Parts: sequence; C-alpha cells; structure tokens
Amino acid sequence: MDRSPILVIGATGKTGRRIVSRLTGFGLPVREASRGSVPPFDWTDPSSWPEVLRGAGAVYVSFFPDLAAPGAPAAIETLTECAADAGVERLVLLSGRGEHNARRCETIVSESRVDHTLLRASWFAQNFSEGHLLHPVLEGVIALPAGDVKEPFVDADDVADVAVAALTEDHHLGRCYELTGPRLVTFAEAAAEISLAAGRDVEYVGISAERFRAALTQDAGPEFADLFTGLCEEVFDGRNASLGSGVRQALGREPRDFTDFCRATAASGTWTAR
Ligand SMILES: NC(=O)c1ccc[n+]([C@@H]2O[C@H](COP(=O)([O-])OP(=O)(O)OC[C@H]3O[C@@H](n4cnc5c(N)ncnc54)[C@H](OP(=O)(O)O)[C@@H]3O)[C@@H](O)[C@H]2O)c1
Repeated sequence: MDRSPILVIGATGKTGRRIVSRLTGFGLPVREASRGSVPPFDWTDPSSWPEVLRGAGAVYVSFFPDLAAPGAPAAIETLTECAADAGVERLVLLSGRGEHNARRCETIVSESRVDHTLLRASWFAQNFSEGHLLHPVLEGVIALPAGDVKEPFVDADDVADVAVAALTEDHHLGRCYELTGPRLVTFAEAAAEISLAAGRDVEYVGISAERFRAALTQDAGPEFADLFTGLCEEVFDGRNASLGSGVRQALGREPRDFTDFCRATAASGTWTAR
C-alpha cells in the first residue's frame, strides 16, 4: 500500500472532518488542509497550494464557498494543474448536483492529467445540523426560496464513505457518482421530520428570492447573499428532484434515510441547544 499522505482539502468541513476521521481510523497517513492547518491552505491564495500538495498521493477537494461561485472553475483548474505538477496520483472532487459551474469544474478535472473520481452530491442533510440552516432550525423557522420542490437530501456520512472508498480503492477511478439520499423530501416535510425528532416546533416558509437575498445580505453580506440566492434559484427548479444511485454503486449498500439523520441528530443534543 502506498504510504504517501492522503491530502484532505476542507479538512474541518462537513465532509472533510468525517473523511479525516475515517482515514485516521484505518491507520492511513493523512494531511489536513484548511486555513488553520500547518502549512495553511487558502483558496484565496494560490501561492499556498504547492507546498500543501507536495508529496501527497491522493487528494480530496472540497472547494469553498461553493463550486457555483464565479471564481471556482479557475481555482479548480489551477489546483488541478498544481496537483499534476506535484505528482498527485488521484483527485476526488466534491461537486454539487445541477450546478452549471460545478459541471464546468467536473469537466476541468476529468480532462486533466490526474486520475480522478467525481462525487456529484445533492443537498446535505447536515446543512440542518452543522451548516447555515442550524440557526433557523433552532429559531423554529426555515425560510428559503425553495417552494415545494423535492430534494433527495444526502447524508454527509455517506458522502464521506464514498470519498474514502474513492481515495483508497482503484475501481472508482474515472467514475462520477450521483450521491443522493434514498427519498425525495420537500423542505416542509424536512421541517416536520426535524420537528418530530427534536420535539420542538420547526416550520418551513417558502419565500421569494428577493426576500431571501435581502435577509442574507443583512446577515452575511452582499457577496454571500448573491452567491447563495443564485444557487437556490438555479437548483430549486425541480432539476434535482430525482434519486441517484451513487452510494449503492460505490459502496454496495443503500444510502442513509433523512429520518435516521433526524433521529441521530436529535439524540446528539444538537437541536436542543439554544
Ligand atoms: N453543503 C451542501 O449541501 C453541499 C452539497 C453538495 C456539494 N457541496 C460542496 O461542498 C463544498 C463545501 O461546502 P460546505 O458548505 O458543505 O462547507 P464545509 O465543508 O462544511 O466547510 C467549509 C470548509 O472550507 C474551509 N474553508 C473556508 N474558507 C476557506 C478558504 N478561504 N480557504 C481554504 N479553506 C477554507 C473550512 O475550513 P477553515 O474555516 O478551517 O479554513 C472548512 O474546512 C462546496 O464546494 C460545495 O459546492 C455542498
């Protein structure tokens, strides 16, 4: 077995920290990368990338803030070139389902000199417990411009399991896995399931993109508001309202259901805190 370290970019994020924990548990050498790592990795500073990539065997890439961001394709192209120059053997790209820019990033990686696997994931269930929707859940109102669209929320644990397989097993090379949960769920249904599991009132309110952008501009600034509103407008038109079979193809088992995520998260106390 190759003992070159496996580099995890976004090592402190929702998927990255799960991947680090699994690889470490298998006794594999891991190099964690984020702004606080040593050496640091910063997506806004390409001069920090070559040192982090040097000597890495396989690389997991979780871009920030989102592959839908205007600068993402250029960043992914430069990173992929740096990885090839550094002799990286394989690259596993976390991508987003139904996003135009994410598809461009996938094409850049698949046409590169580096062996690769693409993980095209739907919305993470963990957005409700570790991401930007945790605060709304605790406040009791999830307000999104998502209408009654159905989304096959995928569990970040399943994404991490597939990523670890792709980083360590050869038969995933060249594959693109559509990673979804096993069931289509509306945001109203998701709120009701969270409410039931957490034992607290949580409702979904469908709002216009304009209202969403205005609220987000106040909370997070205009750049993030534009990006995230544009992302919602792009993917909440029903294009992702279908199930993918990537978890089964990669792991030979079914993906975790949203109800199981809700039960486990409620039991962890995450939705109890104020
Ligand atoms: N969330 C979803 O539902 C979803 C679904 C499909 C695909 N994706 C993709 O997943 C990726 C991550 O999204 P996420 O929202 O789930 O975030 P996340 O992985 O939970 O967290 C962000 C990670 O990025 C790091 N980071 C933040 N700013 C950085 C910077 N300037 N340079 C380097 N690292 C930085 C953070 O580490 P530090 O703060 O420690 O630096 C952290 O490790 C995106 O590319 C998105 O397209 C997400």
